[in-house]
Amino acid sequence: MNASNILVTGGTGSLGSLVVNRLQAKDCNVQVLSRSKRPGTVQGDLLTGEGLEQALEGIDVIVHCASSPTNPRKVDVEGTQRLLQAAEQASVSHIVYISIVGVDRNPFYPYYGMKLQTEQIIEQAVIPWTILRATQFHEFVLTLIQLLDRLPVMLVPKGFLLQPIEVSEVADRLVELALSKAVGRVSDIGGSEIWTAADLARAYFKVTGQKRSVVEVPIPGKIAQAFRSGTQLCSDQKYGKVGWHEFLNRTLYLKIN
Ligand SMILES: NC(=O)c1ccc[n+]([C@@H]2O[C@H](COP(=O)([O-])OP(=O)(O)OC[C@H]3O[C@@H](n4cnc5c(N)ncnc54)[C@H](OP(=O)(O)O)[C@@H]3O)[C@@H](O)[C@H]2O)c1
Repeated sequence: MNASNILVTGGTGSLGSLVVNRLQAKDCNVQVLSRSKRPGTVQGDLLTGEGLEQALEGIDVIVHCASSPTNPRKVDVEGTQRLLQAAEQASVSHIVYISIVGVDRNPFYPYYGMKLQTEQIIEQAVIPWTILRATQFHEFVLTLIQLLDRLPVMLVPKGFLLQPIEVSEVADRLVELALSKAVGRVSDIGGSEIWTAADLARAYFKVTGQKRSVVEVPIPGKIAQAFRSGTQLCSDQKYGKVGWHEFLNRTLYLKIN
């Protein structure tokens, strides 16, 4: 399919920047939406709608990666409504959205509830759409572990199950979808391994050569129960090839050297 004019929202972010590189390597004409005025981007803000009309001029396909976990109602839900309105005016032919595995099974977690609402808005759009759900990215899990790494003993939520995936593998799949016809919801993708949060942290300490203890703390409530029961997993869709150890060795080795 010829989809040469593509707008990537969130094209400055972890996932979006990899999507942009890959599309450019395939000779697509790529616009990157950003709130900042950095070179190579078109300025626009989903929060206010400012700049969206200009950013969408001549665009065939949107790859929608922008998101704000701290303000998801205004940016993700309402911002996507604004984006779709402008996209309809601009006769965009396809919107590809990245969501998260299990948002329907764990909507109690506020950010996931907002991602689910955003999916529903896209599903009702006039513009043909594709939605891909992915599990947590390795980088994101590493950031969480490093945030918890503050005390002599690391406390982690007991029994939380995760299936982290390499962000570049998610970018590969999104690009494949952006260059194809709209197909609605596609199969979820996750990493090759399922881990408890505690074992992810233990592996981190092993790779970084630290002799530290990890203590699992029981967390009450339905959000925690959902994380324990595997709502964030797609065990039948182990799409990713890169495992947690491989990611840690590569990433931490690069940081040290
Ligand atoms: N991280 C994960 O583990 C994970 C897993 C599965 C799915 N996802 C989904 O993948 C997507 C990308 O995640 P990520 O971790 O790559 O995100 P990220 O690195 O945090 O990047 C967020 C992007 O959103 C843009 N953005 C934020 N507020 C905006 C606004 N008001 N208007 C326009 N753009 C705005 C930012 O652009 P500027 O700052 O340049 O404006 C930035 O490029 C999200 O939809 C997320 O839900 C993430």
